[in-house]
Amino acid sequence: MYQSNISRIGTIGLIALSWVTALLGCSDTSISFSDQGSLSHSSGEGSFRFGAATAAVQIEDGLYHSDWHHWSKPQSEGGKGQGHDFVGEAVMGYTNAINDISLLTELGLDAYRFSVDWSRIEPLRDSINEDGMDHYSSFIDQLLTKNITPMVTVHHFSSPIWVDNFLNGTCTDTDVPTDENLCGWGHPTGSVAIIEEIAEFAAQLARKFGDRVDDWCTLNEPINYLIASYGAGQFPPGKQYLISDFDRLMTVYRNYLMAHVAIYNAIKANDTIDADGDGVAASVGLSLNSIEWVPVFENAASDRPKDIRARDRIWYLYHHFYPDSLLEGSFDSDLDMVPDEMHPEWTGKLDWLGIQYYSKNGVTASPAMLPGVDATLCVGELDMGACLPPEDETHWIPTMGYEYHEEGLFNVLMDIGTRYENLPLVLTESGLAANEGARRAEHIVRTLEQTELAMQEGIDIRGYYHWSLMDNFEWSEGYLPRFGLYEVDLQTYERTATQGATVYREITNTRSLTIQTRTNYGGTGPMTPDIE
Ligand code: BGC
Repeated sequence: MYQSNISRIGTIGLIALSWVTALLGCSDTSISFSDQGSLSHSSGEGSFRFGAATAAVQIEDGLYHSDWHHWSKPQSEGGKGQGHDFVGEAVMGYTNAINDISLLTELGLDAYRFSVDWSRIEPLRDSINEDGMDHYSSFIDQLLTKNITPMVTVHHFSSPIWVDNFLNGTCTDTDVPTDENLCGWGHPTGSVAIIEEIAEFAAQLARKFGDRVDDWCTLNEPINYLIASYGAGQFPPGKQYLISDFDRLMTVYRNYLMAHVAIYNAIKANDTIDADGDGVAASVGLSLNSIEWVPVFENAASDRPKDIRARDRIWYLYHHFYPDSLLEGSFDSDLDMVPDEMHPEWTGKLDWLGIQYYSKNGVTASPAMLPGVDATLCVGELDMGACLPPEDETHWIPTMGYEYHEEGLFNVLMDIGTRYENLPLVLTESGLAANEGARRAEHIVRTLEQTELAMQEGIDIRGYYHWSLMDNFEWSEGYLPRFGLYEVDLQTYERTATQGATVYREITNTRSLTIQTRTNYGGTGPMTPDIE
C-alpha cells in the first residue's frame, strides 16, 4: 500500500518546502532542458519535450454526433440547451488542421497532444467513418514530416451521443440498451457494451496509426470528467449521482477504470510497431487533473484536523485513487483510502502518468456535502465556506473562478513523483485563461521553473504540453475563457500569436529559460493584470 505523501509531509512541511522552492527559484541562473526522449522507456529519463495540447470537441468543426453538440445546442433547435454557448463549429480546427501545423512549427515544438473524437470515427454504433480515419492519418504524416511527435488521446470529455443518449430520456436498469442508446457508464449491461466499444475504437486507432504513433493517452482527467458528467451533471449526460446515487457513481468510477485497462490492452495488442525506435511500440498512460487542495474553514485557511483530513481524502481521490488502482490492481470502493477489491488483471497497466495543473482550491469538512469523502469543495462559483480569497489578486482567474498558484505545481509533482517512484511523469496540460499575453508568458515560465525544481529533487518529468495551442470551447464556460497560445477571432477564425507564443518560442529555440526571461516573467510574485 502506498502511503499518502501529503499526510506524511503535512501542511507545515508543505509550507516549508514552498519556502525552500521560492529560495531556490531565484532567477540569477538560467535553466536548460534536454532534448525529447522516450515517454516511458528508462532511456527517456532526463529527457524533456516541449509541446502543446488540444481536444477535438474544443477546436474541431463538424462533430455533429458528439454528446457536446446535442448538450450545448439550444432547445429551440432540438438540443438540450444548457444555457451556455453552443459549441457549433468550434474554431474550425478540423478544416484547418493541416494549416494549423504551421502554428506548432512556428513555436518550435517537439510534440503535439490531440484527441481523435470517438463520435467522428463512429458517428453511429459500429459504422466507421473511413474519411475521418484518413484525415488523421494525413495529419499524423504531416506532423512527422515536421518532426513533431504525436500523442493521441482516446477519450477527452466527449462521447458519441449513442453512448448515453440524454435526448431519449433515462434508461432504467432493466431497460435493454440499443444501438441508439447504450444507457451510459452506470448501466449494468450498457456499461459492458460501452467498454467493449471504446476498446474497439482504440484498437482501430492503434491499427491505423500505430506504425507512426507511439504515445497514447487513454483517458483525460477521469475524476474531474466523471464528477462533471455523472456526479454533478454540468457535462453530458447530466447525471447527478453525487446527489441521488453515490454507489452508482462508484460503479461509474470502476467502469471507467476498466475502460482504461481495456483501451490499454487494445493499444498494446494493435500497436506493435516501434515508430520512434525507443524500444517501446506503445507508451500508454492517462492524464490526471491535479489541484493544490488546501484545508479551509469558513473561508479561511484551517488547521483543524477534520479539515486537514477532508483535504487528504480529496487529495487522494484526485491524485492517487486511479494510479493506485492501476499499479496495485485494486479498487477502493468506499473511498476510505484502503483498497477493498483486488483486480490483478489491472496491475501495471500504466506506462506513464500525465499531470495537468491549473489551480489551488479549498476543501472543508464543515459542511461535508460530498458522500464518500465527507468534504465540500470550492469549485467555480459554488461557495459553501470552502473558498479562500486569493493570496494575491493578480493570480485570480475570473473566467474560471479559481486561483493560480505556482508552487502548487511543485507540491503536486513532489507528492505524485515520490509516491510512484518508477512511473515517468509528463505535464500533459498546464495553462491559464487570459486576455493579456504577458500573463500567459508568465505562466509558461513559472510552470517550467516549478517543474525544473521538482526535477532537481529527482522527480522523473519528461516534458510539458501547454494548454492550449489556440483559443477554444471551454466546455460549460463556453468561449469566454481564452486559453490559447494563439488567439482566435471567433468571426474569421484567424489565429494570432499572443505574447505567450512569442516567449514560448524563445524558450524552445534555446531549450532554456534565460536569466532575462526568468527576470521578466518568472518567480512567484504578482502577475501582469489581465485585460477585461
Ligand atoms: C481539460 C481541458 C480544459 C482545460 C482548461 C482541463 O481540465 O482537460 O479540456 O479545457 O482543463 O480548463
